[in-house]
Amino acid sequence: MSEPKPTYRHDYRPPAYRVRHTELRFDLEPGATRVRARLHVERHPERQAGEPLVLDGEQLLLTSIAIDGQALAEAEYALSDTGLTVLRPPERFLLDTEVEISPRENTALEGLYLSNGMYCTQCEAEGFRRITYYPDRPDVMATFSTTVVGDKATLPVLLSNGNPVERGELPDGRHFVTWDDPFPKPSYLFALVAGDLQKVEDRFTTMSGRDVTLQIWVEKANLGKTDHAMASLKRAMQWDEQTYGREYDLDLFMIVAVDDFNMGAMENKGLNIFNTAAVLTHPHTATDATFQRVEGIVAHEYFHNWSGNRVTCRDWFQLSLKEGFTVFRDQCFSADVNSAPVKRIEDVAFFRTAQFAEDAGPTAHPVRPDHYIEIGNFYTLTIYEKGAEVVRMLCNLVGWEAFRRGSDLYFERFDGQAVTIEDFVDCMAEASGLDLSQFMLWYSQAGTPEIDAHGEYDYANAEYRLTLRQRTPATPDQPEKLALHIPIRMGLVGTKSGRDLALTLDGKPLDRDGVIHLREAEQTFVFTDVPEAPVPSLLRGFSAPVQLRFPYGREDLAFLLANDSDGFNRWDAGQRLAMLALDDLIAAHRNGVEKVMDPRVVEAFRALLERGSKDKAVMAEMLTLPSEAYIAEQQPLVDVEAIHAARTFVEQSLAAALSDDFLRLYEENRSDIPYAPTPEQIGQRSLKNVALSYLMAIEDEQAVALAHQQFEADHNMTDVRHALTLLVHSSRDDLADPALRAFGEKWAHEPLVMDQWFAIQVTRPQTDALERVRYLMGHPAFSLKNPNRVRALVGTFANQNRINFHRTDGEGYRLLTDVVIELNRLNPEIAARLVTPLTRWQRFDEPRQELMKGELERIRAEKLSPNVYEVIEKALA
Ligand code: ARG
Ligand code: ZN
Repeated sequence: MSEPKPTYRHDYRPPAYRVRHTELRFDLEPGATRVRARLHVERHPERQAGEPLVLDGEQLLLTSIAIDGQALAEAEYALSDTGLTVLRPPERFLLDTEVEISPRENTALEGLYLSNGMYCTQCEAEGFRRITYYPDRPDVMATFSTTVVGDKATLPVLLSNGNPVERGELPDGRHFVTWDDPFPKPSYLFALVAGDLQKVEDRFTTMSGRDVTLQIWVEKANLGKTDHAMASLKRAMQWDEQTYGREYDLDLFMIVAVDDFNMGAMENKGLNIFNTAAVLTHPHTATDATFQRVEGIVAHEYFHNWSGNRVTCRDWFQLSLKEGFTVFRDQCFSADVNSAPVKRIEDVAFFRTAQFAEDAGPTAHPVRPDHYIEIGNFYTLTIYEKGAEVVRMLCNLVGWEAFRRGSDLYFERFDGQAVTIEDFVDCMAEASGLDLSQFMLWYSQAGTPEIDAHGEYDYANAEYRLTLRQRTPATPDQPEKLALHIPIRMGLVGTKSGRDLALTLDGKPLDRDGVIHLREAEQTFVFTDVPEAPVPSLLRGFSAPVQLRFPYGREDLAFLLANDSDGFNRWDAGQRLAMLALDDLIAAHRNGVEKVMDPRVVEAFRALLERGSKDKAVMAEMLTLPSEAYIAEQQPLVDVEAIHAARTFVEQSLAAALSDDFLRLYEENRSDIPYAPTPEQIGQRSLKNVALSYLMAIEDEQAVALAHQQFEADHNMTDVRHALTLLVHSSRDDLADPALRAFGEKWAHEPLVMDQWFAIQVTRPQTDALERVRYLMGHPAFSLKNPNRVRALVGTFANQNRINFHRTDGEGYRLLTDVVIELNRLNPEIAARLVTPLTRWQRFDEPRQELMKGELERIRAEKLSPNVYEVIEKALA
């Protein structure tokens, strides 16, 4: 087999031909769907006459082709595995093709496929080429008219983008609906859905007074689980009007929920398609985290209507143009409608764990990559989350008013176009008058910048000198890095007053936001008129996606934890303090020395518990120790056992020393009021459940009884799931096994709850976890064809059960490899994602490195999809 070839950003050329209008007709049959396409094509005005027309197409059976009604002779076109070329097309013409495809055979879940008897599509990034021959690239934008034909009894509902304009009956029990989408769009935003679906409907009046019909389409059994998504959608629509002045443009907005979906959701114009896991909720089946995730994803996809659809990407290298901006928008939305500090803490905790790991590994890439083999591999934390951090920095740099003006300019200037990241940043530069040229490096340099900071207080001169040194480590094909423009929000907290001191830099007061700008490899900032010795509070709110080191002492951190005016940095001080203790304990474990808990950490936690907090969700975050994955990220070489032992030891020590406080916290935050996913209730539940986790860390009779009661009380899924997890992760199988059985029987008919049931079991720290994974893979409810199931069982095990996945006998690696090899054939996109933990082999000890590499080699010996090929080659490079 020939090796898949990379695509390079610098090779971009505008298309030789444009498609003005696209007419499609689908005759739906599971094994042989006929797709007729009529493309209204014209030559690009800047390109020469006579160039061939290149259309993408994969796994299509061409049954006819004609230009302006004349069938083409075989010599007039060329067919290959990847497309069709019309050799000498005229200037302007109609191209008619007819192909046959098989949705039933489609296990990759790209293009048109069947999920639970329902037809649906996923076209981003390059799925449309599995539907028909087409210039399947985002810079070809056309209006679409789509006729869907299907059996009326089994497929009563036929949907596509835009507005329904015609429907009717056909012979043989078939019917059709024609949809018109007046907004020019690239093929990746095309969607079709057909099935036996039911809808929930609502309305929204836009700011200019237009009435929009909102519909959520689900299978009948899920009709009771759409309220939260609908309410979230309306909040998002209103937020985008108020915050960005963006109004919805069609008369109809539809969401469809499907069981089998590779990602969370997709922003197809007027017809968003969602993974059921990202849209359905009910207090009895979904946890608080799911309620919040649904709200965020519904908003994300809705926001794409402007940042993505009306203005889209010129090519896939610009993916972060729409994703980074849209994630930033959905983060701000969630912060506004919930607890803003908690949203930031959660996002950063996740980012510093998962994105930092990606940026330090063999698949590291810039926010705007220079090349790829398979674009499906680039829907990453770097493109999405780091991209959002970069947009957040831009917003903070230019200030909200200028950012909003820049955003208005961007939407106005580029409406209906496919553009680049420069186009976006230029609008921000134009609106603010700032020079953002150095800032652009954030888009081109991969790797997490490391900042080493140190400070000195000069009593005699009342000066504080802060020196910052930045360095970005080498990443694959980027050995040298330049200095970035890094905005650092900071304060100096007076050790006597416990207050932020006024900051004077270069004789001038520092701006109100307290931001200093690091632009050189090394820079010293001298603050004058500093009346008392301060502790610096750096990178407030995580003002840049960097790793910042400062030689804080434990007293400094306890001081910041108690006094920092920045809520985010108060939390971070607690995390840093815990990390210092964890580092000592990891070393103790390695050296076989007895572990001793640092009393200063205990006292800091005690003080925290005594002080309390208005925001319970923030308090819950403050009490949560860094995860094993985050701790691992902070170590030069990952010692799986030592990290697990050290973290468990800290948890148990805190639980033992503060059990009365945790018990009080638990009792104080119990509540019988009916469930609602309000920020207040969610905060209260989080705090109560964090307390219960600590109590269960020492597993005394009382704690076990509380957990068991909480499970039995069956008040809402958040509490039930948490209690069940604690029982299953405890030594009390006598209680856990019956609870698991009852839960599994009760929810056997609810796939999304069964996903939780799988996940809870495979995260248990006991040594039988891996055997349980293998056993559960044989469970009748498990299927490799359902991505949610694969993620719940195999993904959760490999990513969240570190102690068992990294077993020294290599069984965890073998298990994952077996699954990846099977999925490579069935669903390459999921396979390439699932293999990620193995690609991080360099972070582990020699014997594990060998085992992991051995498994990667075993994958490499297979006939690989481009997706898996690309990841494996990078991992073994
Ligand atoms: N644009 C979608 C979203 O972020 C994700 C699509 C992902 N597609 C893929 N093939 N990976 O909302
Ligand atoms: Zn998106």
